[in-house]
Amino acid sequence: METVAEVATIPSTQPGDHALALRAEQITKVFPGTIALDRVDFNVYRGKVNALIGENGAGKSTLMKIVAGVERPTTGRLLMDGKTIQLHSPLHAEKLGIGIIYQEMNLCPNLSVAENIFLGREIAPSGLVVDKSAQRTRARELLHRLEHEIDPNLLVSDLRIGQQQIVEIAKALSQDVRILIMDEPTSALSAAEVEVLFKVMEDLKAHGVSIVYISHKLEEITRISDYVTVLRDGKLVAEARTQEIDVPWIIEKMVGKNPAALFQKGHTEVCEEILRVEEMTLPIVGGYTVDHVSLALRKGEVVGLYGLMGAGRSELFECLAGVRPEATGRVYLDGKLLPAGNVSERINRGIVLVPEDRQREGLVQTISVAHNMLLASLRNYFNGLYLTRRKEQTAVAEMVKGLSIKVANPTQIITSLSGGNQQKVVVAKGLLTSPKILLLDEPSRGIDVAAKSEIFAIMERLAEQGLACSLSPRS
Ligand SMILES: Nc1ncnc2c1ncn2[C@@H]1O[C@H](COP(=O)(O)OP(=O)(O)OP(=O)(O)O)[C@@H](O)[C@H]1O
Ligand SMILES: [Mg+2]
Repeated sequence: METVAEVATIPSTQPGDHALALRAEQITKVFPGTIALDRVDFNVYRGKVNALIGENGAGKSTLMKIVAGVERPTTGRLLMDGKTIQLHSPLHAEKLGIGIIYQEMNLCPNLSVAENIFLGREIAPSGLVVDKSAQRTRARELLHRLEHEIDPNLLVSDLRIGQQQIVEIAKALSQDVRILIMDEPTSALSAAEVEVLFKVMEDLKAHGVSIVYISHKLEEITRISDYVTVLRDGKLVAEARTQEIDVPWIIEKMVGKNPAALFQKGHTEVCEEILRVEEMTLPIVGGYTVDHVSLALRKGEVVGLYGLMGAGRSELFECLAGVRPEATGRVYLDGKLLPAGNVSERINRGIVLVPEDRQREGLVQTISVAHNMLLASLRNYFNGLYLTRRKEQTAVAEMVKGLSIKVANPTQIITSLSGGNQQKVVVAKGLLTSPKILLLDEPSRGIDVAAKSEIFAIMERLAEQGLACSLSPRS
């Protein structure tokens, strides 16, 4: 198989056959305790899609933040149309036609959909007063292009995560970009929504827009990209034309070993019923989000829950986990009817939810990795009056190892972790509560293929120990 560049000891790429819109050369980025990027070369081809691939923490988002003017490289340079450029800010990059859809949603929850889309670029013909009606009309058009009729007047705080992702994409489309960076734009979208996005991407390409596409969904990559670039541990591993490679090649380059061992399913014995849900409803004005749902779950069972965005899967989980006081219906655990309960009561009884929206519900952004991980299970670490620090540290260390969480030190603030590693912390937090029933809402969002296989293996081990899992995968 011929690739554009295979790497020897000093990584570098020579540009491929197509014209370059942008090139990053020998980029190094050092954070305290971490070399996020080590002399990386990266090419963006005019009117082409270059997929940037790598395990969680490989350096993808950091490289793209440098290209989008959010972070400065420690060393290295950026070239646009053959000339060196120094980016001072994201606004500066935007002026040069570089747009970015961030991996972690970057919207203001207390502003409307339309206000978010035009934030910092308000439509104000007179220069003074914002033309809100024009913004709403334009926002509606952009959302229509994405085949989503979200009301532009809605507050972003009222949107679910998949809808927020659509708004992020609409925001990027509202700019006149030459280079569009999409950092995991589909992590919260369903298969049908991904199709719409791909149509939009083809259209952008036809207009000469260059796209950098980051995703852990490898089938998407082989379908939509023209080039792939693989990073591993902050280093460039390979650049290739997509038509010359396949998914096993990608995994091997990403992980550094043969992928054959991934996703081996064992056999778990399913035992007696542990959870019974009868006539669960979640009323909204004029109807139900969860409409009289009944189901049963047995020990050792892993049940998948499917449905399109808005079908009510997350809401059903929220009802079970005690997040929604307005829910009605009966929940039996081990044959006993549970009283209506709040979240901590349900956790105490062993029903635990790993939520889909890590930023809003899963993590506290201002505290450390370790503290986030222990948030839901602190009661396990009380020894009379005191928290037993040693026990805590051991539990955290086991999770870091078991889920291969890439963190220099668990006392680091959670936001310094890469997106996928933050997601692993959300899963770890749920696991540490020693649940009887684990409700996982899209648990592998943004998680790389090796770690996903690890999470599935952990679920299976837990099921073997008699835990029941209910899983809500996106597609
Ligand atoms: N502000 C920061 N402070 C310290 N370390 C950081 C910071 N930002 C990123 N890092 C580290 O740099 C490395 C690369 O992170 P990056 O977010 O680029 O990974 P990624 O490839 O995007 O991963 P993912 O697939 O999980 O999104 C990680 O080890 C991360 O912990
Ligand atoms: Mg990332």
